[in-house]
Amino acid sequence: MKIENIKTVVIIGAGVMGQQIAMNTAINGQAFGYRVILCDGFAEAIKKADAWASDYLESRVKKGRLTEEEASKVQASFSTTTDVDNACRNADLVIEAIVENLDIKKELFERISRICRPDTILATNSSNLVSSKLAGVTAHPERLLNIHYFNPALVMKLVELVRGPHTSEDTIETARAFALNTAKSPIVINKEIAGFVANRINAAVTREACLLLEKGIASVEDIDTACEKGLGYPMGPFRLMDLTGIDVNYFVRRDRYAESHDPNDAPSPLVIEKYEKGEYGRKTKKGWYTYEEQEGKKG
Ligand SMILES: NC(=O)c1ccc[n+]([C@@H]2O[C@H](COP(=O)([O-])OP(=O)(O)OC[C@H]3O[C@@H](n4cnc5c(N)ncnc54)[C@H](O)[C@@H]3O)[C@@H](O)[C@H]2O)c1
Repeated sequence: MKIENIKTVVIIGAGVMGQQIAMNTAINGQAFGYRVILCDGFAEAIKKADAWASDYLESRVKKGRLTEEEASKVQASFSTTTDVDNACRNADLVIEAIVENLDIKKELFERISRICRPDTILATNSSNLVSSKLAGVTAHPERLLNIHYFNPALVMKLVELVRGPHTSEDTIETARAFALNTAKSPIVINKEIAGFVANRINAAVTREACLLLEKGIASVEDIDTACEKGLGYPMGPFRLMDLTGIDVNYFVRRDRYAESHDPNDAPSPLVIEKYEKGEYGRKTKKGWYTYEEQEGKKG
């Protein structure tokens, strides 16, 4: 499938990621005439996505980022449905953003790969599952890859395109052109690896920060200050962990270690301690910092 032939883009899963990937495609892909269909197996999710999309476009118009005319064009190119199978029938590109569960994703890919045309490109937005895990159930694995967006997908420019051993060069090139057409900065990851590139680099920084803390080299606040004021990070590793959830860090590391048996992948003992105490960060008002009001204080 060449980029010129991509016209109908189907996003499956209308959650946090799917909504924004769909809206990003509709807004930034106007010049390329993309028709965007956002689908979800659950009517409630579609109801929420419809309300979110109208509110989002209205707020863009109010802020002067889109004209009324542009917003109605975006709205006209964007539709939602609970009929996933029917949406897939005419899809040129499908981006899956459903729950992070391999069995559920396998069931979906097996089903849609029988419904889609043989030249349709199928992509998963999974953060952890490489597309090889889905290749066995997909009729045309040469058109299968990971297209990994970052949260919030309307804001974050990076898109990681992960090449599986089954993925054709044409598929990578079309995905790269699609990402560029929709105002993203794509990178190509040539071999499948858990965590891909950006999250692995982030994990390495977080691991080193925890090690420095474990050894009593510097405090949480000072390590964050070093990263923010010395390295120009928008947020130090401990502040970021409090935002994304120390429990999430614990689960990701635990699962990665179970797969790799590499001690570097294991959760830090300090992260385990926080997890066991139920101190997950902002969501529990206490993590590396405490959150009484707005500002984080050392905890
Ligand atoms: N949240 C993030 O920060 C983030 C970042 C990058 C990638 N991802 C990846 O994106 C994917 C989605 O994450 P999310 O946070 O948007 O999830 P979410 O829970 O917000 O949304 C998932 C949606 O999928 C729908 N769904 C579940 N099973 C379905 C099925 N069989 N058919 C159709 N719809 C189905 C649910 O109704 C729900 O609306 C995951 O694979 C995750 O790894 C998430």
